[in-house]
Amino acid sequence: MKFTVAIDGPAAAGKGTISKAIAEEFGFQHLDTGLLYRAVGRRALDGVPADIAAATLRLRDIARTDLRTPEVAEAASKAAANPAVRSALVSFQVDFARREGGAVLDGRDIGTVICPNAEVKLFVTASAEARAHRRWLELKEAGLDISEAEVLENVRTRDQRDAERDAAPMVAAEDAVLLDTSTMDVKTATEAAFEVVRVGLAKRQ
Ligand code: DC
Repeated sequence: MKFTVAIDGPAAAGKGTISKAIAEEFGFQHLDTGLLYRAVGRRALDGVPADIAAATLRLRDIARTDLRTPEVAEAASKAAANPAVRSALVSFQVDFARREGGAVLDGRDIGTVICPNAEVKLFVTASAEARAHRRWLELKEAGLDISEAEVLENVRTRDQRDAERDAAPMVAAEDAVLLDTSTMDVKTATEAAFEVVRVGLAKRQ
């Protein structure tokens, strides 16, 4: 069975948590496409031109454990505005999406550019304050010393760049289901997402 769940939305909206929960619930494979851009951003910080980094990306670059920092997120967002970087990463994502057994991909352009024919599309969002608060808690947990105000500023800057770029900007696909998680706990948000996937699966049969 080929079945693609496309999940897009701004930074720290809960896409990752929801995607992982969907993958587990329905037995799909999950790809966090932000990691591809973070790996490119990391190599760019190490001095490799971003387009070369994207064209020569290896699995071990994506497996690095230092990709979850605000510095790398910022470098990823900058690299992601480069059309050569984006096009180098397309075929890997498209192949992943159409693998047997079902796939869930989360990112910024999955429902619009990578998988315009995805069986299920979700656009997960939340207020900038709610997202910054969650990301700040995660970073604090990981031992990073950063203020909540600084995280909010980072999130706003990145969202603006990701939404305003010319190449595959972050935008909800016309046929995406919107899920605002501002006031939802994880269980409520994942249950709402499961319901959308169940509807998509039922339509196929
Ligand atoms: O999802 P994330 O925060 O890990 O993504 C890091 C950056 O990568 C994000 O600011 C924009 C870019 N990105 C993108 O342009 N397209 C995607 N499909 C995924 C991420």
